[in-house]
Amino acid sequence: MPLRLAVLLSGNGTTLQNIIDRIERSELDAKIECVLSSRSDAFGLERARKHNIPAVAVSRKDHADAKQFSDAIWAELGNYDVELVVLAGFMSWLAVPPAFVHKIINVHGALIPAFCGKGMYGEHVHRAVLESGVKVTGVTVHFADGEYDQGPIILQSPVPVLDDDTVDSLAARIQAQERELYPKAIQLIAEGRIHVDGQRVRVS
Ligand code: GAR
Repeated sequence: MPLRLAVLLSGNGTTLQNIIDRIERSELDAKIECVLSSRSDAFGLERARKHNIPAVAVSRKDHADAKQFSDAIWAELGNYDVELVVLAGFMSWLAVPPAFVHKIINVHGALIPAFCGKGMYGEHVHRAVLESGVKVTGVTVHFADGEYDQGPIILQSPVPVLDDDTVDSLAARIQAQERELYPKAIQLIAEGRIHVDGQRVRVS
């Protein structure tokens, strides 16, 4: 049985598109039950509908605070039978209900715990990396624990920072690496090969 996913996003949805493409090419043993967006104008919603995936906007701006918004997201998710929540450029805080501990994953375009946390998304991450002068950055896939970009790390992959890198050139190489690492982590979960022991994740 394919792993039943919900994908949560806020924007363009290239991460969602990659997951859709991998499933359609039978490279990923999963099924997207629904796509939820924190913005009604997110292009990711259109990508989902084009592939006949239920796509719903739960607007962050219609909710007074992050807690109320998170509650609304979980209420909507309750309408679907989902085994894993996949954050794909979801830019709001999400609580982790007890039933979803180690069942929510996130991809971040840096090697956490560096260059991450609230406000660290998209270009901001790569600009901070370039300004800091580090020679290596990368991609992290981790379980979400209710703090921004935090939780047990499933997979990490380094990406070198080149002398002539710009925000755009670095972003392109990071995104290429994300497109490999995120489906790989989802497939490992689908195969039941991920085991969490405190902060450490082991792959069998
Ligand atoms: C991804 O590249 C991911 O690194 C970032 O959002 C992008 C989503 O792009 N996530 C974070 O920064 C999490 N802190 P997309 O909307 O095109 O899929």
